[in-house]
Amino acid sequence: MTKVKFFNGEDIPLELHKVRVVQKLHLVPIERRLDAIKEAGFNTFRLSTKDVFLDMLTDSGTNAMSDNQIAAMFQADDAYAGSQSFDKYQQAVEDVLGKKYLLPVHQGRAAENVISKTFIKPGNVIPMNYHFTTALAHILDVGGKIAELLYDDALILKSTNPFKGNIDIDKLEKCIEENGVDNIPFIRMEASTNLIGGQPFSMANLMDVRRVADKYGIMLVLDASLIGENAYLIKQREDAWKENSLADIIKTMTGLADLVYFSARKLSSSRGGGICTNRKELYNKMEALIPLYEGFLTYGGISVREIEAIAVGLRETLDETMISQSPRFIEFVVNELDSKGIPVVTPPGVLGAHVDAGSFCPHIPQTEYPAGALAAAFYLISGVRGMERGTISSVRDENGEEILADAELLRLAIPRRVFTLSQVKYVIDRLEWLYQNRDMIGGLKFTYEPPVLRFFMGGLEPTSDWPSKLMEKIRKDFGDSL
Ligand code: F0G
Repeated sequence: MTKVKFFNGEDIPLELHKVRVVQKLHLVPIERRLDAIKEAGFNTFRLSTKDVFLDMLTDSGTNAMSDNQIAAMFQADDAYAGSQSFDKYQQAVEDVLGKKYLLPVHQGRAAENVISKTFIKPGNVIPMNYHFTTALAHILDVGGKIAELLYDDALILKSTNPFKGNIDIDKLEKCIEENGVDNIPFIRMEASTNLIGGQPFSMANLMDVRRVADKYGIMLVLDASLIGENAYLIKQREDAWKENSLADIIKTMTGLADLVYFSARKLSSSRGGGICTNRKELYNKMEALIPLYEGFLTYGGISVREIEAIAVGLRETLDETMISQSPRFIEFVVNELDSKGIPVVTPPGVLGAHVDAGSFCPHIPQTEYPAGALAAAFYLISGVRGMERGTISSVRDENGEEILADAELLRLAIPRRVFTLSQVKYVIDRLEWLYQNRDMIGGLKFTYEPPVLRFFMGGLEPTSDWPSKLMEKIRKDFGDSL
């Protein structure tokens, strides 16, 4: 039972945990925020947290750890090889994800590197529900291509479709027929499809994908970084799974995949990652790359303390009161924003609330990065750091032309058990002000554009002096009470 009913009829996500360690936050004055975002090249990745009030950049490595995770870290077995901490990790993977063979890696993208280098040849095509930035970068790096096969309505941002992360089975079969089985090393399914607003796929869809994979003899790879939340939404939204435990749902999901990989930074509130399978021959093919890129096979570049925390965190993923906390907060924020007419991705997904920057700022052309501009403007008004998930996070084609993103989103991540309801209400309040003043937000242009994963360290500047004007308006409306 994760929803607590309020007598007064309010739908409030009640925190089912208590806070025992706290960190002081800094809500710096508006003048400092303007300087800080300028120094950061209008890229929220480059802000220092000393200038950030609520850090809603990501849930990666920022979910709250439990007391049991911290306690386990003290028991870590410091050994280069044969560490008992790794045995616990392996056992947790087997118990929770149902896979016997585990390769540890330092984080999710390291798994993508190992899988891409092992299985993809130049010219190969990887059909998937949708890409994630790092997965795409590694596939391109080894000469592969992707085919994104969501249903046509999945990119309608305001929607009632409960499973926008589903792959279109007809498109999948067509893609296989057109490219040929030999050209497709695997199908990739991403749980809680990150870049379209943390939208889940259904179990029925994953079962259909498995049937297609079997029909053509193609391997199915599951990105399980956000599997706990996807499983929770299956339980909430898919009738056939209402009565099942999260443990059942997760094991059924992973059981349908030949290879499962994950970022433990997201999956289990810690660091690290892993690749797991029950097929020894797949494990054998990848094994040699772990000592080459990651570290010995019993730590894979992860500290043994973190390995202990992953093992405990994986088991905690099965606790509905824990896993539901972030989706319930997100649902609260999304419903509040939606009721105020602020454009936001619906139905509520996981990881964060996703504001539709394209509709928020229709006056900013995609080539001037509306989601990036909105992220900068929102930092100015709130001190809250969100993340651009739009064209800045996209790539250029072989001719150097921008590939405009399917959606321009400002992601406001809500890591598990980190923020309180009043903090979240502050976010809603500041967004409401910004929406009323949205005409004042202008575009951005690159001043420094890295060739790979440009959104991380890229530098930008405003196309006009809109940030200073916005700052004056904030001063006028809020005075010294910021
Ligand atoms: N797959 C998914 C679905 C992810 O969301 C991420 C990371 C990765 C793989 C890569 O994992 O960061 O451990 O190397 N997502 C973070 C985010 C970065 O902010 O959404 P990593």
